[in-house]
Parts: sequence; C-alpha cells; structure tokens
Amino acid sequence: MKMVLVFASNNAHKLAEVRAIMPAGVKVLSLHEIGFEQEIDETGVTLEENSMIKARTVADFISSQPSVFSSQIDGVFADDTGLEIDALGGEPGVYTARWYLQDPGAKEAKTDLENFARNRAKALRELKDKDNRGCQFRTVITLIKFSAISDQHSALQVEGIVRGRMATEEYGEGGFGYDPIFIPEGYDKTFGELPAELKNTISHRARALAELVKVIHD
Ligand code: IMP
Repeated sequence: MKMVLVFASNNAHKLAEVRAIMPAGVKVLSLHEIGFEQEIDETGVTLEENSMIKARTVADFISSQPSVFSSQIDGVFADDTGLEIDALGGEPGVYTARWYLQDPGAKEAKTDLENFARNRAKALRELKDKDNRGCQFRTVITLIKFSAISDQHSALQVEGIVRGRMATEEYGEGGFGYDPIFIPEGYDKTFGELPAELKNTISHRARALAELVKVIHD
C-alpha cells in the first residue's frame, strides 16, 4: 500500500520537484488538497526550527480535523532551505526567502517572481568584486509521522547540501528562486540552465529527500 504524506509548503515549484523526486511508493498531497489555506509564520532563527514549525503547524491542523485525520494520511513533511554564501559567513541562510527586505527602505515584492528577482539582484550586488563565490544550498526536511495506535507523533529531521558557486550574472530561466545564479559543483551551468531532471538528482532538496526515503519506514 502507498504511504501518503502531506508536503507542508505553499511553494508550487518545491511541490513539483518533490513529486518528481519521491519514489512511486509515496503519494504526496499538497496543502490545498487537505484544505489548509493559511500562511505559516516562519519565526525560527535556524532552518531546523522553521522546518519543524511548518511540519508541526500542518500536523496539528490535520490532528484537529477528524475528517482529514481519518483519511489515511501517514504523516507530514516540510522543507526549509537556505542559501549559505561563504564570503558572507553563511548569509543569508535562514533569511534567504526575503533577503532583499534587509536593504534600507525595501518594500515587500508583489509577486513571487518579483521577490526572486530582487533576491538575485541583491546576491549579485553583495558579491560584486568578491573572488570567493563559493556557496551552498542547504535543505532541512522534518517528517512527522502519525501513529495509528496513539496520539504520539514522531518527528525526525534530515539534511541535504549541494555545494556550488555564485555566477556573476543571471543565466537560464529554469527552476525558481536563486537557480539562475547558482552553479552546482562539477558543472559550468546554472540550475536555471541545467535540465530539471538533472537538478532533481543533485540538488539540496533531492539529497535531503534521498535521506528521508532511507528512514521513512523506521
Ligand atoms: P523556504 O525554504 O521556503 O524558506 O525558501 C527559501 C528561499 O530559498 C526560497 O524563497 C527561494 O528563494 C530559495 N530557494 C529554495 N529552494 C531553492 C532552489 O531549489 N533553488 C533556488 N532557490 C531556492
């Protein structure tokens, strides 16, 4: 029988990647499919904390909705990802999603695309004139499994890292977020240029999901 897990993210790009990467034995439900429409406040100061907050918020929602809870859901998992730039001491890290807002006078972007573009512009600006362009994407996934025999939910975390370097300008239109300026180690093209199938075998998210799959049945 297939394992059914809810992916605690409103990011359609992440959902598509996760569905493409997960093995056939795991069915991935979106938040929309379980009727969860809230925004989750990411108030943590580490990727581990934010990943846990997202997974717990959705697990609590499911547990509080008998109709959803009884519908054969085995658990919830959440991904929190940070871009960690060597020359900036690992910044923006947990602040990767809204980094551009740290600029004086910056106003909230109106769309995801505008948000992504402004973050990329900030990254290129911050690294202008820097020779050391080393960086990594790090993903922390939290899995909360529901126990069939009690209210106890077990939580575990896994990590995935892909090392790379920041390009000096944008290349390619694939992927999302910082993909057009991230060149993974061993390649000379950005994630924005490389095929999605390749990103989905070497990325931080793919590596974290591979770790998750190893322990999913524990
Ligand atoms: P969060 O994990 O939802 O907090 O995402 C953090 C931010 O990291 C996103 O808004 C994107 O800007 C960026 N990000 C996450 N995953 C990727 C990826 O696979 N490629 C490029 N950027 C990413």
